[in-house]
Amino acid sequence: MSEGGAGGTGSGARRRVAILISGRGSNMMSLVEAARAPAYPAEVVAVISNRPDAAGLAWARTRGFQAIAIDHKAYPSRESFEAALQAALEETGVELVALAGFMRLLTPAFTDRWSGRMINIHPSLLPAFKGLDTHARALEAGVRITGCTVHFVAAEMDGGPIIGQAAVAVRNGDTPETLAGRVLAAEHRLYPQALAAVASGAVAVEAGRVVVSGLPDGAGGEAGGPLIACPAAPSA
Ligand code: GRF
Repeated sequence: MSEGGAGGTGSGARRRVAILISGRGSNMMSLVEAARAPAYPAEVVAVISNRPDAAGLAWARTRGFQAIAIDHKAYPSRESFEAALQAALEETGVELVALAGFMRLLTPAFTDRWSGRMINIHPSLLPAFKGLDTHARALEAGVRITGCTVHFVAAEMDGGPIIGQAAVAVRNGDTPETLAGRVLAAEHRLYPQALAAVASGAVAVEAGRVVVSGLPDGAGGEAGGPLIACPAAPSA
């Protein structure tokens, strides 16, 4: 079970993390890559997908990770699917869960159970553009800055306390695809930093907001300040 905010890097313990995916898993790969560093405060102990054919699951398996498929279509309800998911998480003994392109809505019972211990990455600057098709909607709205957000998962979709964000400039002529590519590159920088901050105990939730203190080396941000504010990509 989680020991709360303390511990982590100071004691040398690495938090056991499961990554949940549904597709190609490029964010999962960025977390796996970061966790190869011995000083990283989390270790990836399992990759779980609700889609047995997810490319990321095959990738994880070939690299020797425990790669578990829990096909949501094999379960008659969200609750029964989540019971199987919960059993797998307990089996692997994970303390933290990182959603990385995991495309299933979770029930409040499940998000409550993992409150403060489950994080997600979303390809917009929340609270703008919750849900799907974020890049097309950002272009439609004419925003000049977009980006990505790592947040704790709460019952409201894409609505939990924000851990970190990275900004990306919108360029003239951007399409949803070109914008998605640059935001994805920012996601790959942000997510490992945000997970490190959570795993090391540097972030806490107070009154529904994240408070950051004592970030580990290399995690970006300033003491007491935002976890990260990636500079916007150059626009040429
Ligand atoms: C990412 O853009 C993530 O933010 C969103 O879905 C995409 C998943 O990409 N939730 P990948 O599977 O991590 O490559």
